[in-house]
Formats: sequence, C-alpha cells, structure tokens
Amino acid sequence: MRWTVSKGSVGTLAGDLLVLPVIEGKQGPELSGVIELAGGHAALREIIAAGGFGGAASSTLPVHCSGLKCGWVLLVGLGKAKRISLEVLRKAAGAAARQARAMKARTVIAMPSFAETGFDAETVSRCFVEGAEMALAAAGPADELELREQGPRSWKLLPGADEAAVLRRGIRQGEAAARGCLAARRLVNLPPNRLTPRLLAEEARRIAAKADLKCTVLGPAQLRRHKMGGILGVGQGSENEPCLICLESRRAPRGAPTVALVGKGVTFDTGGISLKPGAKMDLMKSDMAGAAAVIGAAVIVSELALPVRLIALIPSAENMPDGRAIKPADVLEMASGLSVEVLNTDAEGRLILADALHHACGKQPDWVVDIATLTGACAVALGQHFAGVMGTSGELIEVLEQAGGETGERVWPLPLIDAHREALRSKVADIKNLGGREGGALTAAAFLSYFVPDEVPWAHLDIAGPAWTDKSNALGPRGGTGFGARLLARAVEILVG
Ligand code: BES
Ligand code: MN
Ligand code: ZN
Repeated sequence: MRWTVSKGSVGTLAGDLLVLPVIEGKQGPELSGVIELAGGHAALREIIAAGGFGGAASSTLPVHCSGLKCGWVLLVGLGKAKRISLEVLRKAAGAAARQARAMKARTVIAMPSFAETGFDAETVSRCFVEGAEMALAAAGPADELELREQGPRSWKLLPGADEAAVLRRGIRQGEAAARGCLAARRLVNLPPNRLTPRLLAEEARRIAAKADLKCTVLGPAQLRRHKMGGILGVGQGSENEPCLICLESRRAPRGAPTVALVGKGVTFDTGGISLKPGAKMDLMKSDMAGAAAVIGAAVIVSELALPVRLIALIPSAENMPDGRAIKPADVLEMASGLSVEVLNTDAEGRLILADALHHACGKQPDWVVDIATLTGACAVALGQHFAGVMGTSGELIEVLEQAGGETGERVWPLPLIDAHREALRSKVADIKNLGGREGGALTAAAFLSYFVPDEVPWAHLDIAGPAWTDKSNALGPRGGTGFGARLLARAVEILVG
C-alpha cells in the first residue's frame, strides 16, 4: 500500500472511501467538526444522532454520502476519549483497513490526526500506518521487506494546519515499523526445513543487503576458533550446522552509543536427547522468534537511520536427537571459559545465548538486550500478552517497559537475584544448565547472567508466550506475531534519543 499526504478539502478529494475516526460519546463540537469536514453531510448527522454509530473502539460503519466526491464515508470508532491508547489507534486503523479491503476500495482518504486523541499528529499517523499494514498482512510468506499489496492501493492522509511534514515523518516511521514486524513474522512462519541455521543466515544476508546493514556469519570452523562450545554443542546433533550471524549498522555517526541485541535462533527445537513430547512439537519452528525480532529491529533502526552503532547477534542451531548429540551429564566448555554441565538438552537456548552474549560483551556495548523463546515457564506465568523482562540494569528494564507500552508489545518485570544464580551451581562444572522445577524463567535468566560482566547494563526478554498466536487477532493472522521487532527498535530509539 502506498501512503501519501494529500492537501485539499475533504469534500472534493477523489478517492473511493473517506475514513473518519469518531470518539465514543463525543456528540459536541468535535463531532460536528468532523461532519463539517466531511462536507457537513446530513446522512452522517442523522445516523449519529439516531444512535446508529456510537464510536465503540474498532467498530466501523460505511455510510454513503452522495454529495461527496468520494461517495463513501467509513466511520471508525476510537472508543472513549480517556481510553484511547496508541494500541487502540492501531487496532482502529486495522479495522478500517480491513473494512476498506472488504469494500474493494482502491484509494482511501483518511484523517487520522485528531487533536482530541491526546497524541501528536506524528504519533497518530505512525500508529495508523502501522496498524493498517499489520492488520492487512497475510499469513503466508511475503517477500521480505515488501509491504504486501493486500488492500487499498493508495492511502492519502489529510493533514491539519501545518501538519504535512509531520505526517510524512509518521508515515515513514509506521512503514519502517510494519516492515520490521512483518519481516519477523515471515521468518517465524517459514517451515523449519526452509529455515535451517544456514538458510536463516542467508535470509539475514538478503535482508541486510536491502536494509543497508553489514552481515557476517561465523560457521563451524570459526565457532571452534572462538571456542563457542555452547553453540557447537547444541548444533552437533544436527546435519544442519550451527552458526553465529552478525548484523551491524553501516553508518553509525562517530561517537554514537553501541547497542547489542542478541536473539535466540533455534530453527527447530525437538528438545534433543531430552526429547519433547510429540503434541504441538511443530510449534517449535518458532524457537527462532528472538532471532526474527532482532533482525526486524535492525531493519527498523537502519531504515530510521537512528544514531546508534547497532550490533545484532544471532546464535543459530537446530536442536536434534542424534548419535552425536549432546546428552544429559555432558560438560561443555563455553566461549567465556566457564564450563557447563548439561542436565537437560532441552534447555538449549541458554547454551547458545551464553556464547553470543559473551561475544556481544566483547564489543564494548553501552547496553545489551537479549530476546528469546526461552522457557515454557514464562509463558505459563505471564501468558501470551506479556513478555518477561529480567536483567541487571533497572534503567534498561524501564526503557523496555516504556517502549513496550508504546508499541503494544508489553513486558512485565520478573525478579533476578543471587539465589537464582546459586541454584545453578554444579558439582562437576562451573554451573549447570538446569535450575530447580520452580521459577524456570528466573533460573534461565540467572544462567544467562553468568555470561554478562557485572558492569554491562543487560536485560533479557523471554518471549515464549507472545511470539506465537494460535488465533488471528486485530493486528495479524495466526502464526508468528513479530513480537519484539518494534519494541526493540523503539527501545533503541529511547536509549539514544
Ligand atoms: N524453546 C523452549 C521454550 C518454549 C516452550 C518456547 C514453549 C515456546 C513455547 C525451550 O528451549 C525449552 O525447551 N525450555 C525448557 C527448559 C527446561 C528444560 C528447563 C522448558 O521450558 O520446558
Ligand atoms: Mn528447548
Ligand atoms: Zn528452545
């Protein structure tokens, strides 16, 4: 879909549909203003006066207005003024976009920038574009970074006074965010035989080339040179060799801060020798959702040219049972020099993340964030609407909470204390990869903390819950949600802003 800013009066603009957001319960001058803008059309006045459209959040009503050049008006509800959030705006835009598609509208005019929403025009237009693009994206794999021609061909946003440049900025941000999110979804949805670690590296390379990012891939020989026993160990049970993918921004301004993002890229998790039960094992193709989020975030950060030296690291492996696979009681030598007793080969994410985190911390980052579908325990505790956040930097955790609140990818803090680290002491190695039965998300984070030096501000996002949805929702179909891409990009923006 093509997004532009169009000046002109609502009554005379050419198009197939005019989208008019309406705030619930606003029967006063604001609503009259809206109707006035729509040519003061009597049909609108009557329908609203008769209570035919209350403005409930994401409700829509098409009305034919013969006096308007563009014959159809689509009323879309924003709900009560007090409850309007950025996510409410995204969902309303999504509902309007779906209705526009159903009406086969090709050119849509929209007035998203209402002062009454309480948000500035740039933010509102960003969320409008984001919501419409996310809602209309199909479940199937689109070409990466291409926003699909799913609905209306063209959207024209109508600026208020002096708002045109601001709206253009919002459009650019919304398109970037949607592109990053949809690129992440697409990767998660790919079948695992089409997304082995090597193929994930190839996808990353292709995406990096389009997004003006540098991409390097460490294969098994280089992993051995770096003594990355965690990545090599998890990968050794598979015919598909493991790798460490690195994306880096090309033109960071001199002196810009460094942010390292680390994403778990297990392209399929059978559990290994500690084999998972068969039911729903297919969902474990989504065990690279952290990797997808990091790639999506890098796309957004690059497209917005944020002043940051971004380093995205993706340790990737396929966790398989095999004659050569690691087994419970094995001891691995990690890149950091720590030895790890493997007590459960299904706790593989932390093993590959440990090496990547150690590698990331060697690059003098100002902040490090990792993101992973790490524990079923986190999904049980927080469900699918929240990621767990843990770490050593309260400031970084707060930034992630703020970012998630804005992008609608919410995170919830979970504790990380020395007791959780102590639960990982091993009799035969420095640490073991399994805590007790309880607090699984916390001991997983504690394991990771062994590979991040105390002085590095670090946070860990466990997205086992929100990475995947079994049902379609207002902003996307069943499958990978792309959770984390927009969140991480926004967090970077806050950190360097
Ligand atoms: N990839 C899984 C976690 C997971 C579970 C993600 C469900 C999404 C949905 C991870 O590798 C895993 O198997 N974790 C184990 C850890 C346990 C062995 C300590 C788990 O959660 O059971
Ligand atoms: Mn596992
Ligand atoms: Zn896993």
